[in-house]
Amino acid sequence: MTAPYELEGKVAVVTGATGGMGQVIALELARAGALVIAIARNPRTADTLASQIRGEEGPGGFEVVVGDLSRRDGIIGASRAILAQHTSIQLLVNNAGAHFRDRRVSPDGLEMHVAVDYLAAYGLTTLLLPALRRGRARVVNVASDSLRDTRRVKLSGKPRPATLDNSDLGDLTRLNPAAGFVPFEAYARAKLLTVMAGYDLARTVASDGVTLNALHPGIVATEIINDLIPAVLRPVGGLIRRSMLTPAQGAAATLHLATTAGLKGVTGRYFVHGAETRTPPISYDLIAQAGLRDASDRFLAGD
Ligand SMILES: NC(=O)c1ccc[n+]([C@@H]2O[C@H](COP(=O)([O-])OP(=O)(O)OC[C@H]3O[C@@H](n4cnc5c(N)ncnc54)[C@H](OP(=O)(O)O)[C@@H]3O)[C@@H](O)[C@H]2O)c1
Repeated sequence: MTAPYELEGKVAVVTGATGGMGQVIALELARAGALVIAIARNPRTADTLASQIRGEEGPGGFEVVVGDLSRRDGIIGASRAILAQHTSIQLLVNNAGAHFRDRRVSPDGLEMHVAVDYLAAYGLTTLLLPALRRGRARVVNVASDSLRDTRRVKLSGKPRPATLDNSDLGDLTRLNPAAGFVPFEAYARAKLLTVMAGYDLARTVASDGVTLNALHPGIVATEIINDLIPAVLRPVGGLIRRSMLTPAQGAAATLHLATTAGLKGVTGRYFVHGAETRTPPISYDLIAQAGLRDASDRFLAGD
């Protein structure tokens, strides 16, 4: 694949770069000349990624910062390590994500989808803000359209959007409780939180020239999908995967949002297949957004 984008001299932070789409995103940004900083939780897979990218990258180079983004100290540590080396960042791609078949709780007491699919992106964005402001950065959050429809098999019936109880937003540890836990709904709820917090953040940073958008990359044959294929369909899993987008096709949607010149200044939006799309009403509720922001900031501060 040849590099379609001109990114020489730019610093791009990418999460989830050891996975299906993230690997392509990191490689393409590096080929296009950006200095790519990948945040990875596993030094071994990060080394493999580094050896794949080195030699293919443009003049910017490639760096790895180790950090488990399901942990508050992982988010804070990775942000500090980046800020210690870079005062200005032009691109942040919050692509890391995970789906868990059972309810798990992070060492800090958050349900794991809330930790990985929401707080990682929110935390990195807010903690890196000084450098993002200096770089008049683009921030791209990779969400999932499960937030608009949590049905895994969509043969009939109406879309069932992710739900969010306003009264839970004041305390992140109350989100995705054990009672009534459904893994895919918990994943979708965390992505809804990401989009919702993104609308709020986008307004906060607009006057600094920082833009923030989110997207659904499509249904893509990556590792995460193994978990998401319903048990009844697993015998034909290979066939299903072949009908999905490739990681390169999924990554193209994120790269488009991250680098297309025509999208300069576009902010606070959610895109599906390249088109701006509305999300569930609660995501636009300013009071709910403020509650989520306060709870997230308090959590990151360890209060
Ligand atoms: N595939 C789809 O159909 C689809 C659809 C909608 C949205 N998405 C979203 O697209 C994004 C990319 O997913 P993918 O499909 O490329 O999945 P993937 O191949 O499973 O990649 C996920 C990436 O996230 C990283 N990650 C997971 N937990 C982490 C943690 N605690 N700390 C740091 N990094 C962590 C993984 O790192 P390790 O290598 O260490 O595991 C991996 O690099 C995700 O946000 C996902 O929710 C995917």
